[in-house]
Amino acid sequence: MHGSFNCVMTHQEKIEELRRRHQEAENGGGAERRSKQQAEGKLGARERLNLLFDEGTFEEIDKLVEHRCQDFGMPEQRIPGDGVVSGYGRINGRLTYAFAQDFTVFGGSLSKANAEKICKVMDLAMKVGAPLIGLNDSGGARIQEGVDSLAGYADIFLRNTLASGVVPQISAILGPCAGGAVYSPAITDFTLMVEKSSCMFVTGPDVIRTVMHEDVTKEDLGGAMTHNSTSGVAHFITRDDPDALALIRELLSFMPQNNHEDPPRAENSDPADRTDEQLDSLVPTESDKPYDIKEIIHRVVDEGYFLEVHEHYARNIVVGFARLGGESVGIVANQPAVLAGCLDINASVKGARFVRFCDAFNIPLITFEDVPGFLPGTQQEFGGIIRHGAKLLFAFAEATVPKVTVITRKAYGGAYCVMASKHIRTDINYAYPTAEIAVMGPEGAVNIVYRRELQKSEDGEKLRSEKVEEFRRRFANPYIAAERGYIDAVIMPRDTRPKLIAALRMLANKRDVNPPKKHGNIPL
Ligand code: HXC
Repeated sequence: MHGSFNCVMTHQEKIEELRRRHQEAENGGGAERRSKQQAEGKLGARERLNLLFDEGTFEEIDKLVEHRCQDFGMPEQRIPGDGVVSGYGRINGRLTYAFAQDFTVFGGSLSKANAEKICKVMDLAMKVGAPLIGLNDSGGARIQEGVDSLAGYADIFLRNTLASGVVPQISAILGPCAGGAVYSPAITDFTLMVEKSSCMFVTGPDVIRTVMHEDVTKEDLGGAMTHNSTSGVAHFITRDDPDALALIRELLSFMPQNNHEDPPRAENSDPADRTDEQLDSLVPTESDKPYDIKEIIHRVVDEGYFLEVHEHYARNIVVGFARLGGESVGIVANQPAVLAGCLDINASVKGARFVRFCDAFNIPLITFEDVPGFLPGTQQEFGGIIRHGAKLLFAFAEATVPKVTVITRKAYGGAYCVMASKHIRTDINYAYPTAEIAVMGPEGAVNIVYRRELQKSEDGEKLRSEKVEEFRRRFANPYIAAERGYIDAVIMPRDTRPKLIAALRMLANKRDVNPPKKHGNIPL
């Protein structure tokens, strides 16, 4: 009796114990490891979360969770929180869930307990219907835990997959992200990487050297620019951690909380009826002269603001978010300034993934079209342009959000069908007077249709130019398509903004459904 009486702690002592436990969790891997992190230009996990969320709104959960590993001396090394900080808060006033791996604790490696924390916020995000942000900075699977760690990863991957299309998921890579760990970000909707401090790869430089006898640096293999420009794994590159966190906040402002909601409106002072005369002469009349489609986009959207996604990858197609009349829209545009705006494998995949994101989250799609066709060549054919091009077609065709297309110049061949044509359920299709809608360009058409005549003719060149001119007059315009109703209106380019906003407002209550099915079979 006496002994147990002695063990009773006072209120003060109990409060002190709680403070001590909190302090231990906040110390993470200790001052030395935190300074190392800082010296590498990286913020700590809690600093990152404080910048991500509106000031003072982050509520941490599972701060006292510890690992349960009994091997390799691990019972003596236990740090409350176990290498990941998780919880919820407000971003621009809207509820959001997040986890941030803490590299100072066992290299941010994933233990079973650590994975359970991540899964807990993922489950809450799904139940409540709010976005999930992952801040990744980890040495991968907690080596001491073996298969328990792998199980933890698989638990996360399952939840990423089930949450896909239900709540927006964004991953920032703010340090290493290697091995199977890359597959969580890969399943999420958008991945951001920070210059110099982040890297992603399935197998690192050492393994590559041993197995493949290839020498490659970590940066070249899996640095931020590699994944932004070469592999397309990452959608954004930022200078540092604060930039990445600010970008996540901005990105979320274009999205709804979940698939049952519409994106938030953002009132602004840009008049819906603003016209722009410069647009009348922006598209060159010469068919093969390049111009920058982004100039049209900037001139048309609210306050000229366009948040480009995947800016450095497959630059022959441009995708990103903007607002029209205060409404969030997803823009997909061929880029005549790069590869003449041809669709190739990478552009098709980039466009398709973006279209599917917008469709999943009720974001209307605006398409600007100037496309001479699919990029020819053995590289493309052997690479499977048929299969990959079909992804873009499939994505546009299955999308049920409001869809509006503007053909600025070329709409040739299969690419005409693919780029949100009337025939695949686009609601309003506009064309500029400079539009050319045909099976192929006049030169190509004449070479095929008049091949024999051209071979036999004594003055083949004269005949060719006459026929090309005839084809151009007959087909290189928007009027045949307009006569058929495939184009709803040929518009003055200066009126693009008012016309798009009118169409979007008309479509605000659009309801369209796909036939009941378990899911489609997009040609992956
Ligand atoms: C346990 C780890 C760890 C890990 C790092 N640490 N990675 N502990 N499991 N996976 C610990 C280190 O022991 C060290 O502890 C601290 O974290 C910091 O690591 P350093 O090596 O000192 O840091 P740095 O020099 O910056 O190098 C970072 C690194 C390197 C490149 C990430 O740590 C590394 O190569 N780690 C192993 C990466 C890896 O192979 N992971 C497994 C991948 S396979 P102390 O106490 O010294 O500070 C995988 C499978 C997932 O993840 C499968 C999912 C399906």
